[in-house]
Amino acid sequence: MQHEAITEIQAAQTLDDLQGVKTRYVGKSGLVTKELGTLGRLPPEERKARGAEINAVRQAIDAALTEREGVLKRAALDAKLSSEAIDVTLPGLGLPSGGLHPINRVYDELIGIYERLGYAVVEGPEVEDEHYNFEALNVPWYHPARDLQDTFWLEDGRLLRTHTSPMQIRYMVEHEPALKVVVRGKVYRYEATDATHESMFHQLEGLVVGEGISMADLKGTIAEMARGLYGASAKVRFQPSYYPFVEPGADFAVWWENPRGESKWLELGGCGMIHPNVFKAVDDLREAQGKARVYEGQTGFAFGLGPERIAMLKYGVPDIRYFYANDPRVLGQFRGELG
Ligand code: PHE
Repeated sequence: MQHEAITEIQAAQTLDDLQGVKTRYVGKSGLVTKELGTLGRLPPEERKARGAEINAVRQAIDAALTEREGVLKRAALDAKLSSEAIDVTLPGLGLPSGGLHPINRVYDELIGIYERLGYAVVEGPEVEDEHYNFEALNVPWYHPARDLQDTFWLEDGRLLRTHTSPMQIRYMVEHEPALKVVVRGKVYRYEATDATHESMFHQLEGLVVGEGISMADLKGTIAEMARGLYGASAKVRFQPSYYPFVEPGADFAVWWENPRGESKWLELGGCGMIHPNVFKAVDDLREAQGKARVYEGQTGFAFGLGPERIAMLKYGVPDIRYFYANDPRVLGQFRGELG
């Protein structure tokens, strides 16, 4: 019986199996226990020897049970630990990386060009006073841009700026000439949207003021920007145009040798020499703030352009609305290279 019990104990693969073997041999009605119960029926002279024999069997079985139990418990613990262990050699979970929005990429390129030319870079408020957006920029009350159809007016009489040009006024009120500055930021127009029009878009505005600044400086600056964007073959073209805050005013376009042979003039923006009425409006605002009138008699130029147009062409985006629809299939194509 001892031999069978020990064979079964050693064959037990789990603690449950082992409990079964234990019950069968040394439990309350186990085989060894029963055997002990028969002692009383033996003649007294045999009882002692038989008793000792059965106790020896029981002790051997108990010892084997304890040992096997130790082995099985350790194995169970090992299995639990290894299932929880961290394998530091496994590859990590990939983190999705972001990317710069295409408009910000174009801004970075443009602003890089102007920073190299020594321009300051500023931003201004998107909620603007009528005076800065129109009046001080010599936009007459009857100008169509003032119409409710074109401008988002707020209930308090202010508006969402329709261009970045009001920052010309704000900057000159705060700074004396000579100055060179570019303004980046969002602008808003109340109009129907289509593939080339959005009610919110961006502008880069340039302003240069100093003694003797001329139209030649303006043309040279725009040409320098075109070469910075498109390389040495880039050409610029100016066509007369009307903006109330410049005189003379012009629209400018850029042409360059496109490797795909699809070169054509790209209309980029407006520009011109600062209108004397603008300098006067700035001096009036300065005077009202107790500052010196320093702009009358100065000359300068300004220009404004839209990075969306550059980005659409550069990245082959056919519809301006894609930039702001937040569709990950569009913006996901600009993932990864930050910078
Ligand atoms: N502010 C003009 C626009 O939004 C662009 C412009 C800026 C024109 C500076 C001339 C000078 O259309």
